[in-house]
Amino acid sequence: MKVVTTIDDLRAQVSAWKKEGLTVGLCPTMGYLHEGHASLMEHSVKDNDRTVASVFVNPIQFGPTEDLATYPRDFDHDCALLESKGVDLVFHPEASEMYADDFCTYVDIDVLSKTLCGKTRPIHFRGVCTVITKLLNTVCPDRIYFGQKDAQQLAIIRRMVRDLNFNVEVIGCPIVREADGLAKSSRNTYLSPEERKAALILSRSIRLGQDLVTGGERDSAALLKAMKDKLASEPLADVEYVEVVNGLNMQPIPTFTEGDLVAMAVRIGTTRLIDNFTVGEPSIEFED
Ligand code: PAF
Repeated sequence: MKVVTTIDDLRAQVSAWKKEGLTVGLCPTMGYLHEGHASLMEHSVKDNDRTVASVFVNPIQFGPTEDLATYPRDFDHDCALLESKGVDLVFHPEASEMYADDFCTYVDIDVLSKTLCGKTRPIHFRGVCTVITKLLNTVCPDRIYFGQKDAQQLAIIRRMVRDLNFNVEVIGCPIVREADGLAKSSRNTYLSPEERKAALILSRSIRLGQDLVTGGERDSAALLKAMKDKLASEPLADVEYVEVVNGLNMQPIPTFTEGDLVAMAVRIGTTRLIDNFTVGEPSIEFED
């Protein structure tokens, strides 16, 4: 597995593969990789001749009071995992390689970025769209892979790719959970043992929602009340939002149907966690 740190080296390697007629998959990450990321790599290695992973904590998607400085990093561990999954090349640039001092060109997306996480993270999706645009322009992959845990991010990237005519297939990969239900996240590492236990309230509320939907519930208000009551039973949980939104445009809807999204952001102590389910998918299973 090759590690490159410059855009020129990344471009040169991918061009050589393209000249040989090889297909390329791209898995963007911010590192501190876990099984959720590993599943993106597995999908890409299966679908493509070559897989590129990026490991880059993208400063422009963090707000001024967010966790950019403390975001967990372990590049050696990341490389070991990527190599074990059959990744061919890791792109690991410095921030200065991606953003010149006078950088001032951003890709912003309207409507979809204003709801859910966008309400409290107003510049987040602009930062994500900008870095993904730069990666797409450099790698020109056949396919790009994202986790469904960041469902709003996935919907936004799909829309950006459609609106700006990027020639790439966007692949969403299912949420990977711990045995007890907690969705895998690099930020789980911030949780104390007590908070780690309390964090299970997210997946329990998700499963309650899924069971209600399976039982025929289609009214957003009724679904949200049940899920919020469940979340309220955990004293350490501070709910930022639980919403039902249209699966394509991320706008709140009073009644829902297949493909729509039920999403939440909840703080456990100072750690902000997200989780979601798509209407129509089977209920999650975990050890109680
Ligand atoms: O989901 C993430 O880890 C990041 O938002 C991404 C897509 C790698 C862009 O920095």
